Amino acid sequence: MRTYKIAAIPADGIGPEVIEAGLEVLSALEKRDGTIKFDVETFDWGSDYYKQHGVMMPDDGLEQLKPFDAIYFGAVGAADVPDHITLWGLRLPICQGFDQYANVRPTKIIPGVSSPLKDVGVGDLDWVIVRENSEGEYSGHGGRAHKGMPEEVGTEVSIFTRVGVTRIMRYAFALAQSRPRKHLTVVTKSNAQRFGMVMWDEIAAEIAAEFPDVTWDKMLVDAMTVRMVKDPKSIDTIVATNLHADILSDLAGALAGSLGVAPTANIDPEKRFPSMFEPIHGSAFDITGKGIANPVASFWTASQMLDHLGEPEASARLMRAVERVCADGIVTPDVGGTATTSEVTDAVCEAIRRENI
Ligand SMILES: NC(=O)c1ccc[n+]([C@@H]2O[C@H](COP(=O)([O-])OP(=O)(O)OC[C@H]3O[C@@H](n4cnc5c(N)ncnc54)[C@H](O)[C@@H]3O)[C@@H](O)[C@H]2O)c1
Repeated sequence: MRTYKIAAIPADGIGPEVIEAGLEVLSALEKRDGTIKFDVETFDWGSDYYKQHGVMMPDDGLEQLKPFDAIYFGAVGAADVPDHITLWGLRLPICQGFDQYANVRPTKIIPGVSSPLKDVGVGDLDWVIVRENSEGEYSGHGGRAHKGMPEEVGTEVSIFTRVGVTRIMRYAFALAQSRPRKHLTVVTKSNAQRFGMVMWDEIAAEIAAEFPDVTWDKMLVDAMTVRMVKDPKSIDTIVATNLHADILSDLAGALAGSLGVAPTANIDPEKRFPSMFEPIHGSAFDITGKGIANPVASFWTASQMLDHLGEPEASARLMRAVERVCADGIVTPDVGGTATTSEVTDAVCEAIRRENI
């Protein structure tokens, strides 16, 4: 029996709904496989915890998470707590504290889910966005002076280091190399941002020399949004900064049908610390408690988690089950269906049980 210790942090809004669904699906995989076991511990950190304790997680939160093989995360964000507190109190300290520098965001059109783009269907949009996840615009450098005064100033400093850019570039080229098309698009804004972004371009050219079988091109981030909409077939793997890729991947999720199907993995490629797997979406106040949150993103990120843990068969089985259920039209309202979260979850569990591959 191969046992994996999973820390579940459902947190806020629809986070608990989609993580509960994901844990049910993992349990169905355990039963179907017979040789994998998930030893899950659930942590009650998040905005409710903050309202009781004044912090999103305890001071020794990272120490508590360290012994786990992976973290399965829901979403943070509450209407009555400022967003920068929820984000900087839980999700970002985990990403940065565990040096999960590669944020990997696959996007494709799943059978049964339609893209808002005309004439774009299954196979026409199949991308992986690699987001630098440890520095850049979200490094947390900056400050405010003369608060509340007319001369108040706020700075938000982007930090780009040669070490940080080199390692994410090498990760992205290697990922592109592992995909059938072996193509990477390096996204920057090096026309307007003359220092860090020009360094990105230079380092991309240096690392490209290590991957002669990978073709690559460069795009400015604004032009990239146009290309994603107008020519999705021309794109395969993308690498971009923390902020740019954050924005591009929401667009990617919407172009693939809904934010509710878009997953993300915060990876420490060197496996010194647990990596963290989560849906891209937030806590979705508008649908919380209605039982209609799309659980597909949390299933897809669970599949990324299984790959990272070295269980590619279970990962592929989960994605086959998800694609079968969506193709059968058992989907939630955000992608045009009428199914509830638990109906989709039950159907995916049943597809896992019945699969005889
Ligand atoms: N990683 C995170 O934890 C994360 C990411 C984004 C936003 N947030 C936080 O979440 C809160 C709400 O933010 P927002 O409204 O900008 O983004 P959101 O992702 O929560 O919701 C955007 C829209 O997408 C829909 N949606 C999202 N996930 C869905 C799902 N699984 N199924 C069906 N529909 C879904 C929502 O109903 C909403 O209409 C804020 O506090 C924000 O800071 C957290």
